[in-house]
Amino acid sequence: MNPVQVRGEVLSIKQAGAYFSMTVVASGIAEQTRPGHFVAVAVGDDDGSMLLRRAFSIYQVASRGVYGGTVEFIFAAHGKGTTWLSRRRPHDLVDLVGPLGRPFTLPKEPANCVLVGGGYGSAPLFMLADALRKRGCRVDFVVGAATQDRMFGALDAKRMAASVAFTTDDGSFGEQGRVSDVLPAVIDKAHADVVYACGPMAMLEAVYAVSAAAYNGQGIPTQLAVEESMACGIGVCMTCVLPVIADDGQTRMMRSCVEGPVFPGDRIRWDALGTVPDDALGAAAMTASVEVPQ
Ligand SMILES: Cc1cc2nc3c(=O)[nH]c(=O)nc-3n(C[C@H](O)[C@H](O)[C@H](O)COP(=O)(O)OP(=O)(O)OC[C@H]3O[C@@H](n4cnc5c(N)ncnc54)[C@H](O)[C@@H]3O)c2cc1C
Ligand code: FES
Repeated sequence: MNPVQVRGEVLSIKQAGAYFSMTVVASGIAEQTRPGHFVAVAVGDDDGSMLLRRAFSIYQVASRGVYGGTVEFIFAAHGKGTTWLSRRRPHDLVDLVGPLGRPFTLPKEPANCVLVGGGYGSAPLFMLADALRKRGCRVDFVVGAATQDRMFGALDAKRMAASVAFTTDDGSFGEQGRVSDVLPAVIDKAHADVVYACGPMAMLEAVYAVSAAAYNGQGIPTQLAVEESMACGIGVCMTCVLPVIADDGQTRMMRSCVEGPVFPGDRIRWDALGTVPDDALGAAAMTASVEVPQ
């Protein structure tokens, strides 16, 4: 994979419930994208103060067509950058870098896969579902959100999956509750071999806990796309690190923009999120207390 920077024309921008869907002509990115990749989008005008790009999971790509390759992503307009983005119109130019990150790993043999999305976190799971089905995998979905308008892709999920369970925090659509409430039954019914998920960190932790306890504690593997705050998006600044157990068993602060955003759930140090644990490689050694002269 060779990320490229593209200044592409906005082909369309549409409201999708509480979110916006933006499609940008981005040849070079579209052709290389795998499920789980993301783009880093420049926001603000050239003389603006918003220096940092904003990260968005890629929802869909079309690698050929009248316009060349296109990239579509889904976003919530909540801060300065995403509000600016929501005001772009067709034919405006938007600057993207991508595809970035390490995508989902696909099973080598046909497997039963449960895909769990929370809010706009469902977006990258549809390209994943496509790729899994092409490999002969069974796909079951669990789609959750705080409210019905924050649920993304309900129709896509129904169209693609052997079964779909919907949950909302307020009960406005599907069952009232969290995705992790219905996940145990879905895992059992689908005879799941693997769980893929994307959404807020608390949701991912709950999905991991349920998957690890599945089949009477035997557990099943998880592939989780995390969303840590990012500054550079290309591995330079260390803003996006989280404690992860590496292949050698040693905890390292890994960059979610290049070593992630997808990590196996059993490698994430859930007990130490938001900290640099003392046993992480390179963590500051505990300093001996200094005696203060009386
Ligand atoms: C790998 C990845 C994939 C993402 N995919 C999506 C997506 O598909 N749709 C979507 O709506 N959002 C997604 N996000 C979150 C999105 O990047 C933030 O919502 C966005 O950066 C907020 O920008 P803002 O200027 O509107 O908000 P502000 O709060 O004004 O942003 C200020 C700064 O904080 C950072 N920041 C703020 N919130 C977040 C956050 N939740 N995660 C990461 N950085 C943050 C921004 O990069 C920015 O530099 C993703 C984040 C990551 C890391
Ligand atoms: S965002 Fe800079 S290293 Fe990951």
